[in-house]
Amino acid sequence: MNKSDLENSMKILKKYNQEHLLNFYDSLTDEEKDILIRQILSIDFDEIFSLYDKSMTDNFSLTQKVTPLPYIDKYSISEHDIKLYKSIGEEIIKNNQFAVVTMAGGQGSRLGYKGPKGTYLLNLKPVRKSLFEIMCDDIKRANEKYAVVIPWFIMTSDENDAPTKAFFEMNNFFGYPKESVYFFRQGKLPIISVDRNLLLQEPYLIREAANGNGNVFASMKNDGILDVMSTLGIKWISFGGIDNVLLQNVDSVFLGLTIYSKNQIASKSIFKETPLEKTAVYCKKDGKPAILDYVDITFELSELKDTSGNYLYRDANMLSHLMSIDAVKLVSDINLPYHRAYKKNAFVNEEGVKEVPDKPNVFKFENFIFDAFYFFDDMLLFRVDANKEFAPIKDFTGKFNPDSAIAKYVAFWGSV
Ligand code: UTP
Repeated sequence: MNKSDLENSMKILKKYNQEHLLNFYDSLTDEEKDILIRQILSIDFDEIFSLYDKSMTDNFSLTQKVTPLPYIDKYSISEHDIKLYKSIGEEIIKNNQFAVVTMAGGQGSRLGYKGPKGTYLLNLKPVRKSLFEIMCDDIKRANEKYAVVIPWFIMTSDENDAPTKAFFEMNNFFGYPKESVYFFRQGKLPIISVDRNLLLQEPYLIREAANGNGNVFASMKNDGILDVMSTLGIKWISFGGIDNVLLQNVDSVFLGLTIYSKNQIASKSIFKETPLEKTAVYCKKDGKPAILDYVDITFELSELKDTSGNYLYRDANMLSHLMSIDAVKLVSDINLPYHRAYKKNAFVNEEGVKEVPDKPNVFKFENFIFDAFYFFDDMLLFRVDANKEFAPIKDFTGKFNPDSAIAKYVAFWGSV
């Protein structure tokens, strides 16, 4: 680091009124000074402050026309059709044209567990299994069934990349062929306090965080994953989160139906049981597949049914999607919108003391994967049974906690 780097950094911080980020500069080691200055020079201050400012003036009112996105219930399909879709899907899987992407770059701030969420050990008596191992088991079962090795792509973030890889090494990749596991890293943005300041995570480090699971497409492109997939001949990709222990990454019926119905993208959904539950649902906005935020859902809308008595706006997102490689390529070139989330993040205060807040204290800007669907005319929505396919872990005290996930897992798989 040279003198002009320091001077440039000071100029930038002055311009954006962020001089506090150098509060501890004089007491840092040379190496730490270097880290901090390099970080300041790499951050796009214009971007983060304009996101903040825009989010403060946006009135978030819904301007598009909302219509229902029809769904197909997995359990309403005839035996004959199940067989047909299965055979279409199985052909793709057996021909090594199918890959799994696990999005594991999130902060897991609600769970507050130290370490990547995927390394969290679930107490499945008599054995404890990490969320990564549970996900791995699911893909291994498919490998055995179809006599293939499905390439497994895992998205990490700057914050959790090194411990994630170390965890896989330490566990010998849970027996998964190591050469078929690919890690890639997603983008990040600084977090910002409610009163418009960037914060220090350490005296020499500005707190930045993963910029949302919707960054997966751009990251796949930037990290060369799309090229790897093309070389491998991948045609279809399943996307899922790391925290749903009942996620079915490889579902031949879902895949076959998506292909049969000539869709490029598809999502699984679960039925939203109560009308005013704070859950977003699938819909169409101005004729394009989208998600309707719960703040935009009235009781009346939630209660709307079609002529056969099926609810029109009750299909909730469970972060399980299928996309063709062409669809992924298309959206990897698009800048998806950012959403503002209110999260809990520790920071170093003015006295140099680390503060661990007990309630949300910062804004974080995130891309959401479902915003990519808006760039397609249609998609398949496939409603599945939440008891069989949805057991996420979000925190220790709410509806989606480790105990509720274990109960559902055991009910589905029997004792392990
Ligand atoms: P959530 O939105 O539930 O976030 O992620 P989270 O990071 O797990 O937890 P909180 O909100 O901070 O408490 C759903 C899935 O999307 C992934 C997560 O790892 C999880 O599998 N995700 C989320 C990413 O891969 N990157 C992100 O930037 C955010």
